[in-house]
Amino acid sequence: MEVIVRPDREQAVSLVAEIILDRLRAKPEIVLGLATGRTMTRVYDLLAQSAVSFACVTTFNLDEYVGLSAEHPGSFARYMRDHLFEKVDIDPARAHLPDGAAADLRKAAHDFEELIKKAGGIDLQLLGIGENGHIGFNEPASALMSRTRDKTLTPTTRAQNAAFFCGDPNMVPPRALTMGIGTILDAKELILLATGEGKAGIVARAVEGPITASVSASALQLHPNCKVVLDEDAAGSLKFRDYYDFVFENEPEWAKYRR
Ligand code: GLP
Repeated sequence: MEVIVRPDREQAVSLVAEIILDRLRAKPEIVLGLATGRTMTRVYDLLAQSAVSFACVTTFNLDEYVGLSAEHPGSFARYMRDHLFEKVDIDPARAHLPDGAAADLRKAAHDFEELIKKAGGIDLQLLGIGENGHIGFNEPASALMSRTRDKTLTPTTRAQNAAFFCGDPNMVPPRALTMGIGTILDAKELILLATGEGKAGIVARAVEGPITASVSASALQLHPNCKVVLDEDAAGSLKFRDYYDFVFENEPEWAKYRR
């Protein structure tokens, strides 16, 4: 795991956008794993503003609420169209989200895993982190080897996402279809982005705490190619900060991103 701390939110976000664009330029037919949430909106703004083509890109989103149609304003399908898909030249047939509106959720979950396999696996998976340490919607106690399935959301998560549902946590669907932690760990490269002091405590537990199903994001410590990009506020509780900064300042891989 590599931890990179940038002085502010904008610099953390633009570093993540630059890495994604570099991967896309190197492999125009890249398979991207995408995330939703407030943290990601600015990343998608920067991707949409770039001149890079998404024509050959395939995407898989982490999760979708159960029971919401793709047209629902609170759905992640709608979020993705509004923030990215309608602003770039992606082929909508290649932009996949779990089908939360499916009558048979087990089948929808299985089909989603099969589609990822058929696409050759995910090259780069983008991740945010929930206040309780979830990645995707893998709430605390999710199996570290879990695959795509439906999960019941915690009250914390429903409150955290209420802004997308008129501010009312009770309007947030109680369940979601989400990639499992095992599905996420299968991606060839992972980038987790977290900003703001509200995330500092959970980021420290995920990055420097023990690997535990109680903090789903701690499973990322097992991945051989995982970057955690933070702003100063989200990095506020890390113990090994000096070492992370030293690596970022000295590793040749980061030379082009140091500005
Ligand atoms: C939702 C998504 C997660 C995301 C999290 C963070 O719960 N399912 O994938 O990481 O939100 O949200 P925010 O960026 O708004 O803090």
